[in-house]
Parts: sequence; structure tokens; C-alpha cells
Amino acid sequence: MCGIVGYVGPRQASDVLLGGLARLEYRGYDSAGVAVVSNGELDVTRRVGKLAALSAAVAETPVLGSTGIGHTRWATHGRPTEANAHPHVDCTGRIAVVHNGIIENYMQLREELAQNGHVLRSETDTETVAHLVESYYQGDLATAVRKTIKRLDGAYALSVVHLDEPNLIVAARKESPLIIGIGDGENIVASDIPAVLEYTREVLALSDGQVATVTASGVSVTDMEGNPVTPEMLHIDWDLAAAEKGGFEDFMLKEIHEQPKAIRETLLGRMDAKGQIQLSELQMTPEQVASIDRVFILACGTSFHAGLVAKTLIETWARIPVEVQTSSEFRYSDPIVDDETLVVAITQSGETADTLAGVREARLRGAKVIAITNVVGSRVTRESDGVIYTHAGPEIGVAATKTFTAQIAALNVLALKLAQAKGVMGTERVTALFEELSRIPETVEAILADLSAIDECAAEYTDVCSSLFLGRGIGVPIAMEGALKLKEISYIHAEAYPAGEMKHGPIALITPQVPVVVVATQGHTYEKVVSNIQEVRARGAEVIVVATHGDDEIGRHAEHVLYVPATAELLSAIPATIPLQVLSYRIAKLRGCNVDQPRNLAKSVTVE
Ligand code: AGP
Repeated sequence: MCGIVGYVGPRQASDVLLGGLARLEYRGYDSAGVAVVSNGELDVTRRVGKLAALSAAVAETPVLGSTGIGHTRWATHGRPTEANAHPHVDCTGRIAVVHNGIIENYMQLREELAQNGHVLRSETDTETVAHLVESYYQGDLATAVRKTIKRLDGAYALSVVHLDEPNLIVAARKESPLIIGIGDGENIVASDIPAVLEYTREVLALSDGQVATVTASGVSVTDMEGNPVTPEMLHIDWDLAAAEKGGFEDFMLKEIHEQPKAIRETLLGRMDAKGQIQLSELQMTPEQVASIDRVFILACGTSFHAGLVAKTLIETWARIPVEVQTSSEFRYSDPIVDDETLVVAITQSGETADTLAGVREARLRGAKVIAITNVVGSRVTRESDGVIYTHAGPEIGVAATKTFTAQIAALNVLALKLAQAKGVMGTERVTALFEELSRIPETVEAILADLSAIDECAAEYTDVCSSLFLGRGIGVPIAMEGALKLKEISYIHAEAYPAGEMKHGPIALITPQVPVVVVATQGHTYEKVVSNIQEVRARGAEVIVVATHGDDEIGRHAEHVLYVPATAELLSAIPATIPLQVLSYRIAKLRGCNVDQPRNLAKSVTVE
């Protein structure tokens, strides 16, 4: 997804912009550019591809100046070409704009601008903003930007510079994140926190409809009418090292290894001395919690799989019916939710456009919405009635790993809370399950301590084109997540099915060239899973199983066994996930793939 950095201060702006954009690379992008106010000129450099190409261009023709804006673009409107890369300029070449989001009415705006004599040179929605600012500019950039954003439908985070006001950036946002790092004699605008951490920990978070005038000495914020407003300030605890690779080859591998910590911290303080689950974030009285009789979960991708795990947990433990829907379907489905429904929106980034739209829809229908997210201050936290944070720390790899297992940890707590509040489960049982849950981080450590069996297995499957993932019960979403991980980082086709469903169609795909990965940990359907394994083996498939330590028999039915320590059946989701994450990672590495930034993917999908 696109990234924005803007700088005003005493340093060379291009250095700060390129450094900041590098910190946002994890968001995924296909072109990049910077515009620097330099000796009475607006110097714009743009390149297709990775930042290295832009850095080389800037090194070849240095741009000296201390005010500038930069951008990494993930194409939405128009192909990833240099002409479509940001920053975009107006007709005079004196105004430059970078933008994240989508201007939905850009076609009408383009027509209007063209009729008024403006010449647009790209296919983007963003360029209309530069020309609108040009048309409204009468010596005050902030006023021109305020007039411009009133004309925009859609979502935007914008940063704008003008040669006539060379020492300032005007920034504005609606439904796309934008923050300002407050430095000492310098200020940095950015779409995400890692871009400013090298300079400051004090961050101003712009809200929707706010416009900031940013100079080296200060920031003033107004609403769209120009009335001064007091913005929200945040102190950021993350250190820069937390956002770097910490000695691992890739962010993804580092993040896989950070899971014990992420789960531990997510569970911290969730049970009091009396065995009561603590979840004040629900913002509900005990009576209100006890009266919940329907749960609706909204999420996308990996978070959707966490939602499916939660369905099993909540239905089994709390006996409350749970529906799980992908957010992009929910918003257009005329969903049956009302003030009796608890809606849980799961989104690690807190910025996923479809999930946010679902949250708005659910609230319009009277439902109470609880968000589960990893990002403090993210959009979903402002739009929900309550927020349960996962404490996984920043996740840089595009493929979700530690945020997934942290989500499952948080959802375990939610399910136990509901079970306890409804009186379906007594304190003794809740306490026993929570204690077992608290041991899951050690279980994960034990799995990560010896990855040799996974390495051996991965080496044999680097050249396959297609694969099947099977499971039953809680193993179904884990198989789905295993398949998603494999396809997104290794580009091997992978499909997941409930194991019992396989003979209703997918079995036709089975050949010796299509390995079948089966979640076969101990549980009440274990014998059924073993039968399904035999069915695929009878058709020549090679089988990789995730099984429970001590299950020596399973080796007779599989080419490879990836063991995980024993745990209660419904707590096995996290342990069973780990070998599948590592298997995908190893296969992708052996295939030479960029695991941190897989092709075509973005870390947070802030457009529909
Ligand atoms: C995960 O590996 C994927 N990249 C993707 O499916 C992701 O989980 C999805 O886009 C949802 O993101 P969110 O949790 O930030 O809402």
C-alpha cells in the first residue's frame, strides 16, 4: 500500500524522505518518488520499481533543499509507470502532491479541470488534487487545500508543497492514516509511524477532515472550515530496533520467532486472582455481556481465519452462535445484525478498508462493535465501541504471522470471557483453560527450537505447482491459513478444504505431484482425519502431517510428520499453525522469493 513521507527542517529533505520511505517499504509498492523545494525550483524525481532505483536517480542528480514530500505508490488508478508515480504536479509545476487512498469522483474532476484548461499528464486520481489546489490557490496553500478537499469524494491522506511557500507542507486526511512526527526544529509527515521514529517519538495523529500546516518550527491544525482544533498527541514506545530485522534473515522469520512474546503479552493481565477473565475493553456491564446471544465476526484474509478459529471457541465454550463473514461480502449483504448482536471486527492493521466499512455498517444497524487490532490509534480503534489490542509489536512482513497467533490468543480470552459471563463454564474450568493457554508460548518456543524436520520436508517440495491443505474442526481454519501462507509467499497454488469435504470434488486433483498437508493433531475427529489421509494416499498423494508428539502411529501414513507438543484440542490452533508458517517460509526461500514483500500484495489494504 502507498506510503507518504514529508519533511521540513534543517536537514537535506531528500535524505529524510528516502530513509522514511525505506521504513515504509513493508507496505508494498511498485513505484516511488520525491519532490524537493530546491533553490526556487520544485525538483521532482520518480522511478518505477524499488526504492533503490529512486535513490540511484537522486544520487546521480542530487536535489538540495530542506522541504519535500515523498511517496511509494501501490497502483490503483493507472498502471505502475513513472508518469503515474507520485508526486504529481499542477500545470505550473509549482505545486506537488502525494496521496494515499482513492478519489472516487476523480473522473468528473478530470473532466471539469480539462474543460477549465488544465492539462493532466497521468492516469491517476491523485493528479486532480494538484490541479484543484492550483485552481484554488490565492497565496495561502492551507486555504487552497481546504477548498480542494471539500471537492473530493473518497479517502485520502495528502501532503502538498508549493514553491511560493517553500518552507511548509500542508497535510490533510480522510479515512487514510496520516501522522506528524514532532521533532526539535523539524517535523515529519508520514502515513505510518516507523517513518518518523528515527527523529522523534512524539506524534500528532490527524483525524478525518483535519488540515495541518507544518513548518520546521511548528504544526497548526484546523478543521475543513479553517477553525483551529487541538489534535490528538501520542507518545510512541516502539524503538527503531523493534521495527528492524534483529539478526534474522527476513522480517517474516523474525516475526515467526517473536510469537511466544506476542502471545504472552496479549494474555498478560487477563485473569485476576479470583479466576475472573478481565476484558474491560468490551465496555459492557456483566449483565450486558451475559445477554449476548449472537456474535458476528468480520475480517479479511488471515484475520478471517482467526475469526473462524474464534467461531469454534465461542460456540463450544460459550454456546453462543457465531457467524463469520469476510468484510467485503458483509458490507453489501444486507447483514442481519441489530442491537442484540456483538460484532467483532478483526484487523491487525486496523486500516483495512472493507473491515472499516463493515464496522460502520454494523454500527448503523445498532450493533455494538469490538475491534481486535494490533495498531494503537489505527482507524478501527476510532470507529468501534471497544478495542481489544493484540500486543504483537509492529509486523513488517506482508504475510501475517505473529499478529495471527496473537489474534487467536485474544480471541481465546474473549471466548472464555463470554463462557464465564454466560455461566456456561465454571471458574475452575475457565481457570484451567486459561492456565493451559498461558503455557502456549512455551509450546511455541519448543516448536521453534528445532525446525530440522520442517527444513527437510521443505527441501522436497520446492518444485511443486499445486497443493492441498486439509483439516477438521479447529484444524480447518489452520489448514486455510497454511494454504494462504504458502500461496502468498511461495506462489505455489494451495487450496484448503475440510478433510471430509475432499471426496466431494477436490480429490480429483490428487496426483503424486500434488502434496497434501494435513492438520492431524489429537482431537475428537482424529480417527476421521486419519481415514481421509488414507484416501489421499490411496490416490498416490504424498502427505505431510502436523501431528501431536507421541503419535508414533501417524508416521505410517505420511511421508513427513511435523510434531507439535500436546495441548487441549481447542488450544491446538496456535501450535498447529507454527510448522505451517515455517514450512511456507522455507519453501519460499528455497524458491528465491521475497518473503517480506510478496508480489502484488500490500501490508494493509486501505482501498476497497
Ligand atoms: C495476510 O498474510 C495477508 N497479507 C492478508 O490476507 C491480511 O490478513 C488481510 O489483508 C487482512 O489484513 P488486516 O488484518 O490488517 O485487516
